[in-house]
Amino acid sequence: MSERFIEQKDGYNVAVVGATGAVGATMLEILAERDFPIAELTPVASSRSAGSAITFKGKEYIVQDLATFDPSGVDIALFSAGGSTSKEHAPRFAAAGCYVVDNSSAWRMDEEIALVVPEVNPEALEMARDNKIIANPNCSTIQMVVALNPLHDAVPIERVVVSTYQAVSGAGGKAMEELAKQTGQLLNAQSVDVNVFPARIAFNVIPHIDVFMDDGYTKEERKMMDETCKIMGADIAVTATTARVPVFYGHSESVNITFGGPMNAETARSVLADADGVCVVDDPSGEDYPMPSEAAGTDPVWVGRIRDDGSYPNSLHLWIVADNVRKGAALNAVQIAEILIR
Ligand code: A2P
Repeated sequence: MSERFIEQKDGYNVAVVGATGAVGATMLEILAERDFPIAELTPVASSRSAGSAITFKGKEYIVQDLATFDPSGVDIALFSAGGSTSKEHAPRFAAAGCYVVDNSSAWRMDEEIALVVPEVNPEALEMARDNKIIANPNCSTIQMVVALNPLHDAVPIERVVVSTYQAVSGAGGKAMEELAKQTGQLLNAQSVDVNVFPARIAFNVIPHIDVFMDDGYTKEERKMMDETCKIMGADIAVTATTARVPVFYGHSESVNITFGGPMNAETARSVLADADGVCVVDDPSGEDYPMPSEAAGTDPVWVGRIRDDGSYPNSLHLWIVADNVRKGAALNAVQIAEILIR
């Protein structure tokens, strides 16, 4: 067994940076649910919400201002407060001796930084012993690699073509308010206000998440392509189209996979049935398949519609659904924290 990351104690000092946001609130919820051993909890956010109170396990905690917060003595900080905030403050926390699990995209593709999905590459955490920063991958990438990795272990994957149907919660609390508000406006025959998304999201599908790049892909698509290879430690050809749909919680993905050798739906179904973190729901005769309405609020990565792609050898289709705020962000971060104290 490898050496512990943090010395053993009855409870650890934990800071949640971005505690007032959609992911931060879920981090707190999951820390409580899983009874993470906490000695001292500090919710941290911007000066806008500093001084307000959040409740954790029935007790109130005052939100601290990140700009003036001293991280000395904090063992683990879970960050979900945006990329620029993380770039500026994560190194300060790490220099104070605190492990940072960062949910932003700021550090993910840095060669020195571990990008970790506990079911896939927990060994990558070794990289964090010195620099103390660990990146939590992109939400759509996390749920995809949890399903791809066991299949890749069975027969190496050569190519993946993925299209996503992503919930608005992935864009934060204001994005959820925008979907709710626009839905009300349209049902009342009013004109809609568009602030968070590049177009109306209510009763619409927007094939545009994050900024466009010179090659025509969006940054969200690039994240899925690059992060998948880094996490799986494999040179897989991945191409992605990412779209935002008017769903509050739960990302869905249509994934087409080509393997380097014989693989079929039957084998894939039995591999996935035994895979860590995966639940297979795949019964066409009972019209049973994963959907965000049912995945929301749950922990597993749900996989269904497993079928051979008859148009190409050794290829199959999967439909993958997970709660993007839980497994796609907060739960994955807490699972990493659990390894740090193991
Ligand atoms: P605040 O509530 O003070 O704005 P979401 O992803 O739901 O939009 O939430 C973003 C989270 O990140 C919130 O908790 C927000 O705090 C926090 N945040 C955003 N910018 C900063 C910043 N510059 N410093 C600290 N926290 C920030």
